[in-house]
Amino acid sequence: MDSRPQWGTRAGFILAAVGSAIGLGNIWRFPAVAYENGGGAFFLPYLFALLTAGIPLLIMEFTIGHKYRGSAPLSYARMGKGKEWIGWWQVAISFVISTYYAVIVAWAISYTVFSFNLGWGKDTENFLMTEYLNRVDIGGGAIGQFGGFVPGVLIPLAIVWIVSLGILFAGVKKGIEIANRIFIPLLVVLFLIIVIYSITLDGAAQGLNAFFTPDWSQITNGKVWVAAYGQIFFSLSIAFAIMITYSSYLPKKSDVTNNAFITGFGNSSFELLAGIGVFSALGFMAAQQGVPVKEVVSSGIGLAFVVFPQIINEFPAFNVLFGFLFFGSLVLAGLSSLISISETYVAAIQDKFNVPRRKAVLFGGGAAALCSLVFATKGGLFFLDAADYFINNFGVALAGLIEVVAIAWFAKELKALQAHANSVSDIQLGAWWRICLSVVTPIVLGYMMFDNIKTNITTAYGDLPVEFLLKWGWCVAVGAIAAGFILSLSKWKNELKYTPFQHDKEVSS
Ligand code: ALA
Repeated sequence: MDSRPQWGTRAGFILAAVGSAIGLGNIWRFPAVAYENGGGAFFLPYLFALLTAGIPLLIMEFTIGHKYRGSAPLSYARMGKGKEWIGWWQVAISFVISTYYAVIVAWAISYTVFSFNLGWGKDTENFLMTEYLNRVDIGGGAIGQFGGFVPGVLIPLAIVWIVSLGILFAGVKKGIEIANRIFIPLLVVLFLIIVIYSITLDGAAQGLNAFFTPDWSQITNGKVWVAAYGQIFFSLSIAFAIMITYSSYLPKKSDVTNNAFITGFGNSSFELLAGIGVFSALGFMAAQQGVPVKEVVSSGIGLAFVVFPQIINEFPAFNVLFGFLFFGSLVLAGLSSLISISETYVAAIQDKFNVPRRKAVLFGGGAAALCSLVFATKGGLFFLDAADYFINNFGVALAGLIEVVAIAWFAKELKALQAHANSVSDIQLGAWWRICLSVVTPIVLGYMMFDNIKTNITTAYGDLPVEFLLKWGWCVAVGAIAAGFILSLSKWKNELKYTPFQHDKEVSS
């Protein structure tokens, strides 16, 4: 008897997968990436990346999880010898991401509270760096020093871990599914209110013009295509071990292909909505300051925690409400992604060491929570920046490349996976799916890696000291690969054998 937990309903699985995909990447990463890479013209490479890599890979990961019914290491181990390490590597990548992702969600909790009295004041940058984060270098220390804990980060961080690990503790159906059933509809409602309010502001039209006006000269620039693929990977949580883990909880009768299309398009729709909301607000701020929109655009931490508080300060009305909705949305989007990122190692520990779920949550989640303390120090922002950059560029992107090459070229698994997906899905995959995965994706990701390596060898990322980048950037990325190899060496305490869900149709190509 297979005792693996299962989702209660199809909607529960889709909401969990969409909840994983919609995260900080949609709200603060996508709008600026699109703007910097050709505005309206970016949608062409973005759509191309979604259709040739994003959705095909999502279908592949959903099918692997459904067919092999295991966490990422277990699914890869069941697929054949010599592949388990890829599963552990992706789990290690997720482990690293969870440690700093939790800290950003903690900041968002603090800012939700600050929004009640606009506590960030007029100089929002100074507030973030000096008063809130107490940045070590501003206090006379150096980059690379910890400089002691920041209590204002530590307390919300404890809340983040208690909530997410508590949800994981409760299990797949009673924890993850219920949480996403609440978080995701609520997030969509909050965000719709934000967008509707933003587009009514003075200057919103100029902001949207800046966002949507295509700069076609960018379309021949390789970097724009690389940015589109990078965005799709991060945003769809591909090569994070997440989607394999989540789909391993699907019941036998599950339409994997359709689910992947719904997840992919659901995530992109939210991304577009975020772009409209963010650029309307940026247009408003540019109009208030009498400057062009391009002078106020920023991304990441700067956009969410410096520029948005500034915009909120300048609103003619509803400042407090808007602040609460915006940072509350970040918390919901971040928590639902963090839960999925952490579930990868909980499931992997459970499968490999045959321990009950609660022990796996305590052990895996406890270790991640302890490691995340590094980012709650006065020097934490620099560690976070380096870890995030390197684990994305040399973790997620590289793991995605190795994943398709190992499955399509070495294991030659695509036909078998296609047959499996087609046996349970309405939409029938054809040769196009295999071509996307075995030809298009490896070429684009291969070029992306080559470009990334060249850039990072010739220039130090973010002007950070080289020694610091070696320790906190390169070591983290290489460490994840090493962890993958080492963890795959230990013996399985659990049964590797399983009864596959049968498929009864032959592959039609
Ligand atoms: N997919 C998640 C995000 O966009 C990780 O933030």
